[in-house]
Amino acid sequence: MKIEVSAPSNIALIKYMGKIDTAGNRPTNSSFSFTLDELRTFVEIEKTGDKEGQDDWQPLSGPGFAPFEMSENGKIRFLRHFQSLKKELGLNGSYVVRSANNFPSDCGLASSASSFAALTLAVSKLAQESGRETPSRFELAEVSRKGSGSSCRSFFAPWALWTPTGIRPLDLPVQNLRHSVVVVTSAKKKVSSSEAHRRVVTSPLFTGRPERAEARLADLLAAFREKDWEQAYQICWSEFWDMHALFETSKPAFGYIEPGTIEVLQTIREIWQSEKDGPIVTMDAGANVHLLFRDNQTELQKKIHSFFHPKYSCFSSGAMTTSGQG
Ligand code: PMV
Repeated sequence: MKIEVSAPSNIALIKYMGKIDTAGNRPTNSSFSFTLDELRTFVEIEKTGDKEGQDDWQPLSGPGFAPFEMSENGKIRFLRHFQSLKKELGLNGSYVVRSANNFPSDCGLASSASSFAALTLAVSKLAQESGRETPSRFELAEVSRKGSGSSCRSFFAPWALWTPTGIRPLDLPVQNLRHSVVVVTSAKKKVSSSEAHRRVVTSPLFTGRPERAEARLADLLAAFREKDWEQAYQICWSEFWDMHALFETSKPAFGYIEPGTIEVLQTIREIWQSEKDGPIVTMDAGANVHLLFRDNQTELQKKIHSFFHPKYSCFSSGAMTTSGQG
């Protein structure tokens, strides 16, 4: 039996950074994200034997998949989640799990969110096809959270809210947003997000961080409900800098920002200053810059793509995916 599924990535506008419980990935604050339907992980699971044995991971190959090799630690974490899912859903035997993304991994495009969500969905499909009861989407999101916190938000679209009491979709009057990411580098990041979660608690700025995140979340949801785009842009801008300031003030300090990042951020800020309008900007734990556009900003999205294109790759929703040296 072979199972094939895919799941989307998501980009947080209010960030999950810092845990109160490392084992179950319990966050110190609520987070809120936009689901990136076009950036997906594909997972294939194939049974290799009836006896309990060694499960294995292999890269999935095929047209449209970015070349993908997982680090040893990445494989261990992925297969550990697979084994706990098997146990939870009552599956026996040994399997080979193959996966790939249609975008570069480990560089701040939130590939752990889509990878763990796709793996969780694949195991639930396997359990369903073996005649077992399938958990609800809410239950699957909770299970996936234990593998990678941010993956729990990939179960809902377009908006997902993860609070200390659970994960749920949110209905907001801001619909049909378009996403782009300017890939200033697709080099693998040197500090993983798991390590970032551990280190940020050493920053003096971590004091008050949960309160700041919760206050921004309330303000951002109010801005979206009032369709105040500029206010939403300002809140999201403060929020990603808050997370990157935690990185830079941890002990030892670390960071992801590259010269290209600054160039992209400055360009977007100049657009906002001259046009009194522009995209919402955010960054994950990586050097690349995520942009969200309203559906009446497609001309601006195209303009920004062609501005950066000769130098950087731009991935986006819609038909405007372009490639540069990235
Ligand atoms: O799910 P993890 O453990 O890889 O955490 C990643 C958290 C960030 O991507 C940096 C922020 C977020 O809320 O997605």
